[in-house]
Amino acid sequence: MIVKDNYSLAEHNTFGIAATAAHFVEYDSVDELQLFIGRRTANGDTSPLLHIGGGSNLLFLSDYNGTVLHSALKDITVTADEGEYVYVRVSAGIAWDEWVQYAVDSHWHGLENLSGIPGEVGASAVQNIGAYGAEAKDFILFADAVDLETGAIRHFTVEECRYGYRNSVFKQELRGRYAITHVHFRLTHDFRPNLEYGGIRRAIEARGIEEVNLTAEQLRETILEIRREKLPEPSVLGNAGSFFKNPIVERTVFERLQQAYPEAPHYDVDEQRVKVPAGWMIEQCGWKGKTLGHAGVYEKQALVLVNTGGAKGKEISDLCSSIQADVEARFGIRIEPEVNFIG
Ligand code: EPU
Repeated sequence: MIVKDNYSLAEHNTFGIAATAAHFVEYDSVDELQLFIGRRTANGDTSPLLHIGGGSNLLFLSDYNGTVLHSALKDITVTADEGEYVYVRVSAGIAWDEWVQYAVDSHWHGLENLSGIPGEVGASAVQNIGAYGAEAKDFILFADAVDLETGAIRHFTVEECRYGYRNSVFKQELRGRYAITHVHFRLTHDFRPNLEYGGIRRAIEARGIEEVNLTAEQLRETILEIRREKLPEPSVLGNAGSFFKNPIVERTVFERLQQAYPEAPHYDVDEQRVKVPAGWMIEQCGWKGKTLGHAGVYEKQALVLVNTGGAKGKEISDLCSSIQADVEARFGIRIEPEVNFIG
């Protein structure tokens, strides 16, 4: 177990915000985590506790006056291999994209469209990460977790995780209560590429690849290339991917919007509801490429807020508020952050 005091979190959040944690604890085994919780309980310690993953979805508004916990658990274990499926248990502390690469190299399929997403495996099961027509929940069977109050181990089936669009029980009622230690995935031996999401098929054709000959490695490379074109590299320009969720609105609300903006992009969620790309609305409001203090709206993708250098968390959240107000004034739609604000 690594324990540090007054520890800089700059390397633990992809926005690169220079906040510090009063204490930082990194554990190497489930036993160590349980030991840590047991000691806290014995000492009557009720100071704040924050479990982080890769910090790719966090905005620190101030220094953290408690303990930041991080998992260094890093195993990938095949638990069963039956017929068309392989069942794999992956530790929370593994970088998500390392896991995707490992799966592609092992000829286990399904995760290709989720290539290149920053963050760690544990957080993928909290956030239900998604991209290009796929979501983590489509491949998760269950998650192992430790109760941060009692140290007890609990298994959550995918139903119990109550997944929704960038949402789960771990972001709602059970927020902050459990540390996910392992995620159990079910992948296929057959490669059945999912090319339906706008732009993928075109990008594959542009690379001169025929769909029938497409390999999983090529699909992964194509996705990584699309992402590189649209999304900034956190090590170069601090960011947390999409800063806002795409709002889901009643169809009647969207139809009113469409009268004023016939070209408005949208995705049907079901008969009654439509998802409207927040990036499009932010661009319409003139925010794309603009800055406010040391915070900015990325010039190639308006859904992404960036730290232009030395930003304080508050500057990013002020920019967020200004954008929310403008989008609401123009479209009558409230957009909500996908990023978790801390402090
Ligand atoms: N658009 C604009 N201007 C912009 C950005 C987008 O007009 O500045 C329009 C695009 O032209 C398109 C629509 O908005 O018609 C949707 O854009 P895009 O396909 O780029 O996807 P997105 O809705 O902006 C979502 C996810 C991303 C994911 C991509 C691809 C959310 C909040 N974001 O973005 O996820 O990579 O689709 O599947 O759902 C993330 O969650 O961090 C993330 C990067």
